[in-house]
Formats: sequence, C-alpha cells, structure tokens
Amino acid sequence: MADKNPFPGENNTGHIWDDNLRELNNPPPRWWMIAFWVSILWWIAYGIIYPMWPALPGGTGFTKGVTGWTAMKEYKEGVAEVQEVRAPFEKKIASMSAADILKDEGLAEYTVASAKVLFGDNCAACHGSGGQGGPGFPVLADDDWLYGGDINTIVQTITMGRKGMMPAKGGAELSAEEIDSLAKSIVAGKVTENPLFVAKGCIGCHGPDGKGMKPLGSANLTDQIFRFVPVNGETQLDSVKYTITHGVNFPGDPKSRVAEMPSFGDRLSENDIKKLAVYVYKLGGGQ
Ligand code: HEC
Ligand code: HEC
Repeated sequence: MADKNPFPGENNTGHIWDDNLRELNNPPPRWWMIAFWVSILWWIAYGIIYPMWPALPGGTGFTKGVTGWTAMKEYKEGVAEVQEVRAPFEKKIASMSAADILKDEGLAEYTVASAKVLFGDNCAACHGSGGQGGPGFPVLADDDWLYGGDINTIVQTITMGRKGMMPAKGGAELSAEEIDSLAKSIVAGKVTENPLFVAKGCIGCHGPDGKGMKPLGSANLTDQIFRFVPVNGETQLDSVKYTITHGVNFPGDPKSRVAEMPSFGDRLSENDIKKLAVYVYKLGGGQ
C-alpha cells in the first residue's frame, strides 16, 4: 500500500499499481442495487408463497408456503387435464374399428400421436424405434409383409401374435449342393426357375409364384427382400442357407431360427391395439 495517496480528492482505496492504476471505491450503479434488493424481496416472497425450506436437522416436513402448491399437485392436475382432452377421442376409438379410424383423418392423427409411446414401450425392443426391424425381427416400416399389411390383419397379428413355422430341410431332405443351389436362386430372386423349388416341396408353402402365402406367413422368396438378414459378418447367401437347413420355429431342430411375435390381446386394451394397428399401418403404407 502506498503511504501517501498521490491522487488526493479521489475516492480510491489506496491500492495503486504501476504508478497510476488504482482501485476505486465507488458504490455499484443504482440499477444494480435495485436489482439486488428486488432479488432479495423476490426470495422472501417466494419463500412465503411456495414450499421452500426442507426439514431442519431433527425436524420433519418442510415449509409448505401459503398457497399449498406442490409439484406433485400440479402434475396431477396436468394429467387430469390431458385425460379430459383425451376422453372424447378414447370414447370414439372404442366405438370404431381400426379400419374406420383410418378413414377419419383427425382421429387417425390423434391415434398415431398417442400410439408412438405405446410402440416405444411394447414393440420397439424387437422391431426398432421406427419399425425398421432387426435380425430376426421383420421390418414394419415397409410394404413387404409376411402376414399382410391390411389393417385387419395387423390388428389380428398384434392381438393373437404370430409364429411362422418352416421345417428344417438340411440333413436327410436336401444335400448340401441342393441347399446351395436353392439358396443361390433365392438370393438372385429366381427361385421359381429352379426345378428343386417344386421337386423339394418349397412350393407347398411359398406358393407356385414363390411369393409366399399370407395366412402361413411364408416369406416372399422372389423379391430379394429378406426377413432374416445376415448377422456376424455372414452374407445373405449364408443366412438363406441357414434358414433352409435349420428351418424357422421348427421343434425338430435345436438350431432352428426362433421368430415369435408375442400376443398382446391379454396385455393391451382393445383401444391400444387399434391405435398400434393404425400406427403400424401408417408406417408401412398398407399392402
Ligand atoms: C419379442 C419380440 C417382439 C415384440 C415385443 C413385438 N414383436 Fe412383432 N414380431 C416379432 C417377430 C419375431 C415377428 C415375425 C413372426 C414370424 O416370423 O412368424 C413379428 C411380426 C410382427 C408383425 C407382422 C409383420 C408382417 O410382415 O406381417 C406385425 C404387424 C408386428 N409384429 C407388430 C408388432 C407390434 C405392433 C408390436 C408391439 C405391440 C410388436 N410387434 C411387438 C417380434 C416381436
Ligand atoms: C411348411 C411350410 C414351408 C415349407 C415346406 C418351406 N417353407 Fe420356407 N418358410 C416358411 C415360413 C412360414 C417362413 C417364414 C418364417 C417366419 O418368418 O417366421 C419361411 C421362410 C423361408 C426363408 C426365409 C426368407 C427370408 O425372407 O429371410 C427361406 C429362404 C425359405 N423359407 C426357403 C424355403 C425353401 C428353399 C424351401 C424348400 C426347400 C422352403 N422354404 C420350404 C414355410 C415353409
């Protein structure tokens, strides 16, 4: 500290650096002081109106504020309000079929919005958050369907579940060469040109045109869209060979592919199933 203030008459603290750099002792600006006091008043008022102090050591409860506001109360009021808005929609959905809901544009919009959460909670774990599918789980966001993409079939799929069955064809039924030949023509999208397709009975379930039969969920083998996509670095050809060799949901082969769509009829309300069906329909654009 300097002994003598070299700037007499100036309101400085006497802290001076480099000959003339001084620390002044001015009060803060007026606007700042006003804001300061207002914020203190705000804090006191807030403490009177809202819950503020938690229990002190040894005490219980908290200061509740004069209005009795709590976050929980506000949340519950919010929920009640939302339910009130929803009630007429839910009532309408209950009285309509999923097909009719689709035709009612406003209602379909509400339905899709509220089904998004349902889909996330119940379906996304297997089918992906946007219905994009995954290994073993069919894509829902396209127009390629195992069982059918019309609205009533989708309702049925969700309500009852699905479990397509294809017997394992490896071992005694088909030689490695035959499996290879069939798999190659499937990957090329030309299975119906392969005489084995008829000779080995594939036609019985996949149909004369190889496009699959919706009631069985037997996949279309001609469209080069695969319901079982390759995993772990295998090729699509390997994956198709695996399906032919070990089948799908086939009890006689422990290596059989497992593909089961659980039934939701006993887990979700009818309204929720209708909403999900409309949602899935809109993802896939119908047929
Ligand atoms: C545990 C996994 C799992 C869950 C959860 C699940 N699915 Fe599936 N889903 C499958 C499998 C596997 C299939 C294919 C069944 C088969 O191949 O026979 C399938 C098939 C379907 C199909 C038929 C697709 C087609 O091409 O015809 C629809 C529609 C469908 N699921 C909708 C849903 C909806 C909506 C939900 C939620 C309510 C849901 N799934 C939940 C596994 C699941
Ligand atoms: C008893 C009926 C049945 C017979 C016979 C059958 N399949 Fe299948 N196949 C199915 C069903 C059902 C599926 C779909 C299973 C599922 O997705 O749950 C399927 C799926 C497949 C797939 C998977 C397609 C994909 O998109 O990933 C291939 C490949 C296949 N079959 C090839 C054949 C060949 C080749 C033959 C003849 C050697 C044959 N299948 C005979 C019922 C059958």
